[in-house]
Formats: sequence, C-alpha cells, structure tokens
Amino acid sequence: MTKITAAITAVNAWVPDYLLTNKVLETMIDTTDEWITSRTGIKERHILKTPGEATSDIGARAVEGLLKKRGISAEEIDLIICATTTPDMQFPATANIISDKVGAKNAFSYDINAACSGFIFALATGSKFIETGQYKKVIVVGADKMSSIIDYTDRATCVIFGDGGGAVLLEPNIDGFGILDSILRTDGSGRAHLHQKAGGSLKPASAETVAAKEHYVYQEGQTVFKFAVTNMADVSAEIMERNHLTSDDVAWLIPHQANKRIIDATARRMGVSDEKVTLNIERYGNTTNGTIPLCLWEWENKFKKGDNIIIAAFGGGFTWGSIWVKWAY
Ligand code: UT7
Repeated sequence: MTKITAAITAVNAWVPDYLLTNKVLETMIDTTDEWITSRTGIKERHILKTPGEATSDIGARAVEGLLKKRGISAEEIDLIICATTTPDMQFPATANIISDKVGAKNAFSYDINAACSGFIFALATGSKFIETGQYKKVIVVGADKMSSIIDYTDRATCVIFGDGGGAVLLEPNIDGFGILDSILRTDGSGRAHLHQKAGGSLKPASAETVAAKEHYVYQEGQTVFKFAVTNMADVSAEIMERNHLTSDDVAWLIPHQANKRIIDATARRMGVSDEKVTLNIERYGNTTNGTIPLCLWEWENKFKKGDNIIIAAFGGGFTWGSIWVKWAY
C-alpha cells in the first residue's frame, strides 16, 4: 500500500503593526539596546494593542490568508489544531474560536499547550491525522499574544517576548514529501524554572495573586538557557543521525527563536552553516508558538521542492523536539 505522508502545502503568518523597539524599552525599564541585542539578538517586537483582540485574532488572520493563498474555502477544512500558551480564555479552546471566526464549519478543533515547543508538537500531531488517510486538510496554527502575560516592569522577561503567529496547511502526499520524522520530548520537572504561577486550578485568580504579579511569565533565564542549548542541539543532531542526514543534506534549519545564542549553538552542533539557518528574532522577539510559522512564512520563497528542513524547538515544560520535513513545493 502507498504510504501517505503529510505535506505542508501552504504557509501564512500575521503580526500586529505596533512595534516595541529596544529604544522604547530603554525609556520603560533599566536596560540598553546594547544589552538586549548582545544577549538575545532582538531589536524589536510586534505587540497587539487593539482592545478586544486576542490570540484567536492573530490565528484567524493567519488562517484566512492561508485559505486564500491555497485557493480553498474554510468549509473544506477537517481539523484545526492551535498551539498556544496564551489562549483567549481558559476554555473553550482558542482553536474553536479561530474555527468560528474563519467559518470552518466542518472542522473539529482543539488546542495544544507545549509552550514554545507547541507548534512542533501540533505539527507532529496534525501529520498523524493525515497519515491515517481519513483527513485531507488539517490546519496547524501557532499563535501567541505574549504581551498579555508579560510584566512590562520586569526587564528580565519583557525584552524577550512579542506577539504574532502563523498557520500551515497539511495535505496528503504519496511521493515522499512532507513530515517524515519527529522526536518530541518532555521533562515536567523543568516546570519550576519557567511557568505562570497563578490562574490555573493550583492557584485560581484572586486579588492576592494579581497583587503579587503571579499572572505573568516567571522565568529563571540562565537555567532555561542551559537546558535549551543542550536539548535543542542534541535533539536536532539526533534526528539527523537516525535518518542518516549529513549537514550537507540539510538545506535549512528552522529553530525556535528564543535567543540568538541558543540558535547559534544548535547550528554548530548540527554542523550547519549560518546561511542555512532561518533567523528573524531581531524583528519579532520570541513569539512562543509563532516563531516557527513566522520563519516558514518569511523563508517560503527560498525553499525548493525536496529540501530537507529540520525544525527544532525548546520551551517551558520543559518540552523540546525536532521534526524532519521534505519540502513539497
Ligand atoms: O522560549 C522559551 C524558552 N526560553 C528561553 O530559551 C530563554 C533562555 N534564556 C535566555 O535567553 C537568557 O537567559 C536571557 C536573555 C533571559 C537572560 O540573559 P542572560 O545572559 O542569561 O542574563 P542573566 O539572567 O544571567 O542576567 C545577567 C545580568 C543580571 O545582572 P547582574 O545580576 O549580573 O547584576 C541581570 O539583572 O543582566 C541583568 N539583566 C539585564 N540588564 C539589562 C537582565 N535583564 C536585563 C535587561 N537589561 N533587560
């Protein structure tokens, strides 16, 4: 029987207009453009300021553009998976809200929360639905309004994150293109170093949790940095080894954009040269689930059919992983 793989057949992304630059941050907190640039690689990030707009609006705009690009209607979509860490609300899922906003009346939909690794966890999950042969059009969204959980008086976190997201369409392929392998990992003990303290069932929102600023991102940057460097680099090397891919075989590395120094270390470990690495952290910061679709979208014109692409991520949880994609168009 012919093996069905899930090919990425269209990519789109969306970011809000407002730009929060390092220069503006210099006026808000005790920091400098030099510190932010040298420690993270970030120069500016997009922030969603429109009242009443949320992660689902980022996702819905990305999906609307995706459908247009591929020339299909929302009714044709079977499934929408949204990877997000900043859902519109605790429930229902943001994917349900995106489905409603774009008119995907025949789709079922749900969210995946794996922090910064969410998009690749969702991509691997979505690909399995296609591989069964039962589903023909699956959309995977990665979107976050990180500004909704960032304390803009905390210089250790507010310089890093931005808002944005994107979406890809997965369709069946029988010629060996698409998502060919994935390695996904979790270590829940890492939660101590990167989490949101309140707002869940452990510590429901109260006047006290708000006063204690417990609804913002809590991150022990140095510890997360060490785990991110090791794990993202190791898992990227592992997926190459087990598929007998040399650095020459790899056309592109698409790393989660959390810190330029983590990206450089991953590329070095894989033996992949800088020109093969997609890097746009400078203009977007860390958009959590948005980083990888934003890279796919910006580099789409450079990809060639048959290119071997390694996608890698590391995030809160801890979660991390890598995916091997053979580009289909
Ligand atoms: O995507 C999800 C996973 N997250 C990550 O991968 C993030 C991983 N971590 C990082 O990227 C880095 O750890 C950060 C960018 C968050 C921080 O960089 P760092 O080189 O690890 O800095 P640090 O936390 O060790 O802080 C060094 C110094 C401290 O001052 P002292 O104690 O040495 O006097 C900080 O208070 O830099 C200070 N600092 C700042 N200074 C100016 C922290 N933030 C700032 C700032 N501006 N914005």
